[in-house]
Amino acid sequence: MDSIKHIYLVLSGKGGVGKSTVATQIALGLVNEGKKVGILDVDLCGPSVPHMLNLKGKDVHQCSEGWVPVYTDELQQLAVMSIAFLLKNENDAVVWRGPKKNAMIKQFVSDVYWKDVEYLIIDTPPGTSDEHITTVECLQSLHPDGAILVTTPQNVATADVRREITFCRKTGIKIIGIVENMSGFVCPTCSECSNIFSSGGGIALAEYADVPFLGNIPIDPSLSAAMEKGENFMNSKNSPTFEAIMRIIKKLI
Ligand SMILES: Nc1ncnc2c1ncn2[C@@H]1O[C@H](COP(=O)(O)OP(=O)(O)OP(=O)(O)O)[C@@H](O)[C@H]1O
Ligand SMILES: [Mg+2]
Ligand SMILES: [Zn+2]
Repeated sequence: MDSIKHIYLVLSGKGGVGKSTVATQIALGLVNEGKKVGILDVDLCGPSVPHMLNLKGKDVHQCSEGWVPVYTDELQQLAVMSIAFLLKNENDAVVWRGPKKNAMIKQFVSDVYWKDVEYLIIDTPPGTSDEHITTVECLQSLHPDGAILVTTPQNVATADVRREITFCRKTGIKIIGIVENMSGFVCPTCSECSNIFSSGGGIALAEYADVPFLGNIPIDPSLSAAMEKGENFMNSKNSPTFEAIMRIIKKLI
């Protein structure tokens, strides 16, 4: 991991708020900025990064330095490691107890040959489970930058999100900031953004936790459609959603 300069964990106490979406789009956006990026998917039971990046069915290989991740592109700008690449069948479920999961994550953190990756983004499962604690422990000596917390407007007041903040504080992981995802809806016809749920909750949460607010990402059918088809949404420039994600990335950089 010698070349890695920045490590970001993407966390949320809740499922389905867009952690994997935020992790993959930030990675693609960093690639647009000319960075070499890696994504480590430590969601062992529900790995979705390979699907979102159109890497289903790919395999990882061993070399003398360790596991060679799967690259999304010929220039090897985006490297991905996920349990999904190790399963024989994409429908295979990982039914493991904590110790086996922990051993897998330890291997993921220590045995992947990232080569010249500078930014490593770690997508995590929902909650604050074994996977999170092990990931944070394994990363400690590598001095990760910290965690990007993802929330949705209607979830910001819930206990799950506050628990996530407590988790970061207890484990000594710095909170880089909060992203409010599914924040308003961008109309596919006229590109206007309307607030379906309330908005501003992410900012309020950032103030409550005294951490930076990184920005909001609207609900955008073209974003979910791109991920469903395995297309690179961050190539479809000049949409409000693309700009929103790029603003978050500029803040990170
Ligand atoms: N801003 C958005 N616009 C449109 N669709 C979105 C947006 N964010 C997420 N989605 C969609 O919502 C669903 C859940 O997103 P995602 O898988 O990223 O959440 P998650 O937090 O990683 O879920 P899990 O907790 O299961 O890992 C996906 O189908 C995704 O395409
Ligand atoms: Mg996910
Ligand atoms: Zn409209």
